[in-house]
Amino acid sequence: MRRKLIAGNWKMNKITTEAIELANGLKRELYKIDDVDIVVCPPFTSLEEVSEIIYESNIKLGAQNMHWEDNGAFTGEIAPAMLKDLGCKFVILGHSERRQYFHETNEIVNKKTKAALKHNLTPIVCVGETLQEREAGKAFDVIQDHVYNSLEGLTSEETDEVIIAYEPVWAIGTGKTATPEQAQEVHHFIRGLLKKKYSEELAEAIIILYGGSVKPANTKELVGQKDIDGALVGGASLEIKSFSEIVKNASIS
Ligand code: 13P
Repeated sequence: MRRKLIAGNWKMNKITTEAIELANGLKRELYKIDDVDIVVCPPFTSLEEVSEIIYESNIKLGAQNMHWEDNGAFTGEIAPAMLKDLGCKFVILGHSERRQYFHETNEIVNKKTKAALKHNLTPIVCVGETLQEREAGKAFDVIQDHVYNSLEGLTSEETDEVIIAYEPVWAIGTGKTATPEQAQEVHHFIRGLLKKKYSEELAEAIIILYGGSVKPANTKELVGQKDIDGALVGGASLEIKSFSEIVKNASIS
């Protein structure tokens, strides 16, 4: 039985004082939740402070990106061990904003995914089509390309550790959510890809999140779909009230 997971991607928002306030509020609101894994992904600049606040709570820490090398002359980059050192357990990789604005390719996402696994960070690998690709009937080809090439060369034991986030680009920050049926169809398709490449057992075990305009009001229906195991939340993760409601709506208790 897969556990539900709700992750908040704070993107490039919140200076440290604001991050502290948000983390404290979430800890206060969510301490009773024990059937949903909760992850927050603040910007690099407040990882340390948020890490201290949520230490030994039911909220885990994630980062939004990292470099694939262990260390070296890569000005401005952050290494996996630096994230581990601050208490990160998760790292978002290949977010569409990184693919779109920073030219991250599947090859780069693949290197980062391998590096995350090597350092015992759980990668949340993002995949998803643009509106243009969907309208051209290419959504499933794009998703297959993202899934297979981002995970290229991983053993099944390694893939088993990966979380996939399906985030249709047209639904991110637009208020346009994929319908639960649309999202379910893609999640089912992704599980099928994993079954083909690895095994049915792995395909059934892997966590697949949906992301794109997730709000308290649409959470229950989305995470109620058979193949949707939770959400990667952007805008609505920036407020104590909306993020806690999303987590509570994903909880069955
Ligand atoms: P929104 O929830 O703001 O649409 O963002 C989704 C997202 O990109 C999460 O990674």
